[in-house]
This record gives sequence, structure tokens and C-alpha cells, in this order.
Amino acid sequence: MLDICCGTGDMLRALAQATPPPALLVGVDFAGQMLARANFAAVRVPVHVIRADALRLPLADDTVDAVTCAFGVRNFADVPRGLAEMHRVTRPGGRVVILEFALPEHPVWRVFHRLYVGRFLPLLAAMVNRDRIGAYRYLARSIRMFEPARELARRLEAAGFRQVTWRTMNFGGVVLYRGVKPPTDAG
Ligand SMILES: C[S@@+](CC[C@H](N)C(=O)[O-])C[C@H]1O[C@@H](n2cnc3c(N)ncnc32)[C@H](O)[C@@H]1O
Repeated sequence: MLDICCGTGDMLRALAQATPPPALLVGVDFAGQMLARANFAAVRVPVHVIRADALRLPLADDTVDAVTCAFGVRNFADVPRGLAEMHRVTRPGGRVVILEFALPEHPVWRVFHRLYVGRFLPLLAAMVNRDRIGAYRYLARSIRMFEPARELARRLEAAGFRQVTWRTMNFGGVVLYRGVKPPTDAG
């Protein structure tokens, strides 16, 4: 299984708990400082992390059973290209699973979200974490500017995935997308 934008490896550690356990886990992220903080000492499955761009994955075609990406797609400079790369490396019959932030559609939750993510979190980060580079302001802006869930689902279809579904979680603030790369005629 491949986790794209693996950061410090939270998703890889979660995937290692799957039953049956994956034979091999691969994580990709282009931020070396994130990868350097990833700790897999307690993981019983082989894990490889690769410093690379999600838009140019250093993996062969049709090689992974499942691709996951948590809170990374929103940051891609070229979303269709990133999804095309996910599709390219997934084996026929394999799956894609994406977690991404979203703006809640319900007006009440949207107002709450705007206050919490747009105002409260940046303030808290500045006070507690001395967030001087504005990472949490970027977070709010990138969520606001990202496309609606149905559009990302459409892009997954356009990339070649089928049985694409999505469901909202966390009062509409997070969306889980799933899709399957169709098996070839030969099966
Ligand atoms: C919000 S973090 C999420 C990390 C991890 N998936 C998690 O859920 O904890 C986003 C990560 O995506 C990585 N990233 C963003 N764009 C990328 C790209 N084009 N190629 C590789 N990594 C990328 C960043 O370096 C960062 O580590």
C-alpha cells in the first residue's frame, strides 16, 4: 500500500494495523523534515519512505494494491496530475482512498467552521505554537479555496477511477473519497 503525502507517518502506522497486514507499506512526501520525524519503531510491517513529489511518483505502473492520501491533495499544484499519478501506480482492481478537508455545506456549520478554522486556530497556533510562518492561516485559506467534494469526485472519475463514492464526516469539515481502478479485460 502506498500513502502519498505521508508526512510524519500517521496513516502508515494506521495502515499497518490492517487485517490482514499489508506486505509492504510505502510512504511518499516531498518534505524531508516531515519524513525525518516519522517513527516506525513499533510497526511490524516493512515500511519504506521516499522523498518525492506526488506529481511524479517514483513507482512503476500498476504496482500498488491501494493508494491513500490524507490531507494532501488540497495542496497539489496540479490536482488532475496528482490523481493521474495515483491511478497510474494502482494495479487494476486496486483502490484509492483520499481524506481531505472541506467547507461544510450546512450554513450553521459553515459559520462555525469559518470562526474555528479561520480565526480561532490561527490565533491559538500563534500563541501556543509560535506559528510565525502562518501555517494555520494557510490551512484556512487552502480549505476555503479548494473545490467542493462533488468536483473532486468528478476528477477521480476523470482520472480513470470507478465506483467513486464520497461521504462527509466531522460536520462536513472532512470528506472521505473512495474509488476503484477497473480490472483489465484480462482480469
Ligand atoms: C497536512 S500534511 C498531512 C500529512 C499526513 N498525511 C497526515 O495526515 O498527518 C500534508 C503533507 O503533504 C505533503 N505534500 C504536499 N504536496 C505534496 C506533493 N506534491 N508531493 C509530496 N508531498 C506533498 C506535505 O509535505 C505535507 O507533509
